Amino acid sequence: MTATSPIGVFDSGVGGLSVLRDIRNELPGEDLLYVADSLHAPYGDKSPEFIQSRALAITEFLLGQQAKAIVVACNTATSAAAALLRARFSVPIIAMEPAVKPAALSTQTGVVGVLATRGTLSSENFTKLATRFGEHAEILVQPCPGLVEQIETGDLAGEKTKVLLKQYLQPLLDNKTDTIVLGCTHYPFLIPLIREFVGPKVTIIDPAPAVARELHRRLAGANLLSPRLDGASQYFWTSAPVDKTGPIIAQLWGARLKVKSLPVEFC
Ligand code: DGL
Repeated sequence: MTATSPIGVFDSGVGGLSVLRDIRNELPGEDLLYVADSLHAPYGDKSPEFIQSRALAITEFLLGQQAKAIVVACNTATSAAAALLRARFSVPIIAMEPAVKPAALSTQTGVVGVLATRGTLSSENFTKLATRFGEHAEILVQPCPGLVEQIETGDLAGEKTKVLLKQYLQPLLDNKTDTIVLGCTHYPFLIPLIREFVGPKVTIIDPAPAVARELHRRLAGANLLSPRLDGASQYFWTSAPVDKTGPIIAQLWGARLKVKSLPVEFC
């Protein structure tokens, strides 16, 4: 692979499109490959072993498409599989981390809320992060079962999504949280709704722009930045039926696009 090769990005489903969006803004000259593993979403309640096997299969598929770097655009897959991918493959592997550090260092009330899946919140990575920055602020964790499923169906503002979100945000607000960390890449699609519930004074942190900058740095450091400055393309695959997930990908990406089926040997 060379500097003109594409970047591979994947998530348990459509959530990683929130990261892909920031990568597109940060690196307009890079071709992007995106795999939505929607057949197996949500990852949040699956075993680490299952998520590792999915991360390996999808990474192999992306490398087969000549990807020069892999972005694990999923916090749950990062906790379960990023270390394994780094040990197994030599391309740069860029992964997510809930933005607990900037939140803990900037909160005014001293209380930070983290919205994420059960898988992420119970992981060793997260426990270490929360312990480290727990000295600076009280870190309240809030698992959000059901939210990923709502976003996977494209329901960003319906009644069920609103009820779930209110149920998850209220305890944080009752405890003086002034900074909310989005620890799952699906949740940035709910920022308008979250903002409606929490009001203008609460800070909402989406780590995607920082991940896109980190990817930029890593590619530059490895001499893998595309010489092109803009006009690149993006290509989409899903492990779920295309007629089901394709329209949701187009809705969240905000453009008409073609989505292909992930070859069955990678599903
Ligand atoms: N987008 C995901 C994350 O960042 C995956 C959530 C899930 O599939 O449960 O954790």
